[in-house]
Amino acid sequence: MSTRTLRIAVLLSGRGSNLDALIERVHRADDVPAEIVGVVANRPGAGGLERARAAGITAACVDHRAFSGREAFETVLATTLDALEPDLLLLAGFMRILTPGFVERFSPRMLNIHPSLLPDFPGLDTHARALQRGDAEAGASVHVVIPELDSGPVLARVRVPVEPGDGPQQLEARVRSAEHLLYPAVTAWIASGRIRLDARTPHLDGRPLPPQGIDHRVEEGRLTPCSEERQERD
Ligand code: GRF
Repeated sequence: MSTRTLRIAVLLSGRGSNLDALIERVHRADDVPAEIVGVVANRPGAGGLERARAAGITAACVDHRAFSGREAFETVLATTLDALEPDLLLLAGFMRILTPGFVERFSPRMLNIHPSLLPDFPGLDTHARALQRGDAEAGASVHVVIPELDSGPVLARVRVPVEPGDGPQQLEARVRSAEHLLYPAVTAWIASGRIRLDARTPHLDGRPLPPQGIDHRVEEGRLTPCSEERQERD
């Protein structure tokens, strides 16, 4: 078990409900050796900036619209992040595509939470697409970021049921609540040294993770691993 405090920077574009969950269950939790050392947004109106400041966390905006191109934006973004000396970068609703150069600079220390059971539905409109396909389950995945969008190795997923009568908004709300359990849990496993990050084959407890990571569901408000039998079937 590692005892060093993991320094986490969070990158976001919007409301920041996942940031809130990370603040409550990682930053403020006595049993997780980690702290959020900074939050950076690419939009000045991002609600997550206010949430961070309210929690006493350094918050900065690097407004992508102020730059002539993606690389100029990313140069300043990288400098801002480097100043925080993060061990781990968490994308939490960060809505800009990152260039391979930026991704590789931080690889494998950059994670993302995506609102689908990857590899299904990379990209946008995940809930509408799951409903359209008639899926019985939806969910979210935490994965290592690689240059290809939403394609890096998955560390863990959470499955939620699709209920009769669900529209995209109902499903999104159910998945989002589950995200608030999954992202802090995975972050805590990294902080405690259980997960070893790698851009190809991350390990959990010394064993290579399967390509879809470890599956969970939510039971009585808690994240619970699915049975091994279930995971082998997937
Ligand atoms: C979440 O649905 C997450 O899966 C996706 O962006 C959304 C961020 O929501 N990557 P919030 O800003 O954390 O509320």
